[in-house]
Amino acid sequence: MNIIRAENYKEMSQLAAKKLVEQINEKSDSVLGLATGSTPEGLYEEIIKAHKEDNISFKDVTTFNLDEYVGLNKDNHQSYYYYMHHLLFNHIDINGGQVNLPNGDAHDLQEECNRYEKAIKQAGGVDIQILGIGLNGHIGFNEPGTPFSMQTHIIDLDESTRQANARFFDSIDDVPSQAITMGIDTIMQSKQIILIVSGSQKAEALEKLVNGPVTEDFPASILQQHANVTIIANRDALSELSK
Ligand code: F6R
Repeated sequence: MNIIRAENYKEMSQLAAKKLVEQINEKSDSVLGLATGSTPEGLYEEIIKAHKEDNISFKDVTTFNLDEYVGLNKDNHQSYYYYMHHLLFNHIDINGGQVNLPNGDAHDLQEECNRYEKAIKQAGGVDIQILGIGLNGHIGFNEPGTPFSMQTHIIDLDESTRQANARFFDSIDDVPSQAITMGIDTIMQSKQIILIVSGSQKAEALEKLVNGPVTEDFPASILQQHANVTIIANRDALSELSK
């Protein structure tokens, strides 16, 4: 694993954006795997800047998001569909037909999982996958205990994840209890992975990811077995590793 140390959140975001821009410059029809949550917000700001100031075009790019809550429709401001359009897609020249998120409001959720997994394969697989990490070691919404062999599936969210994400909702009761997520096997098939990590609250999880045993009890530990992972973390997030 290649670990890049950023001074702060802004530098972490800029370094991650630079990697994505390099990827698109090399292959204009790249397939990008994207994440939501607080960590990538700065990255998406930098991407918009690269589009507006440096004319980086996304017109041939295809994207697949990691996950979506079950039961929230596209207009719901807490859906990841809304997040991605609001914070990124509406501000760049990406073709709407090449943007993919699982539909958490689908009538048949299992069928939706199968469709999503197939669509990733049909697009040729993910060239570069952006990941964040949950305090409990989840990547995507693969909570502790999820078999490493899983592809896109429906997951019951951990109580700790619902609590961590309650900050985006009016109350914890509004946080969905399930999500559709790419599985660990789906994530591990991406050609390159960039994990971004910010803040001292993530330091322990990052240390476990890098030095801990590879176990389904700490899903992010599987990244030790991927051939092309770059971790871009700020100083606070690296504090437990540099001890
Ligand atoms: C988001 C996702 C999650 C987050 C993780 C960290 O699509 O799949 O794994 O990356 O929960 O979230 P933040 O960045 O809000 O700390």
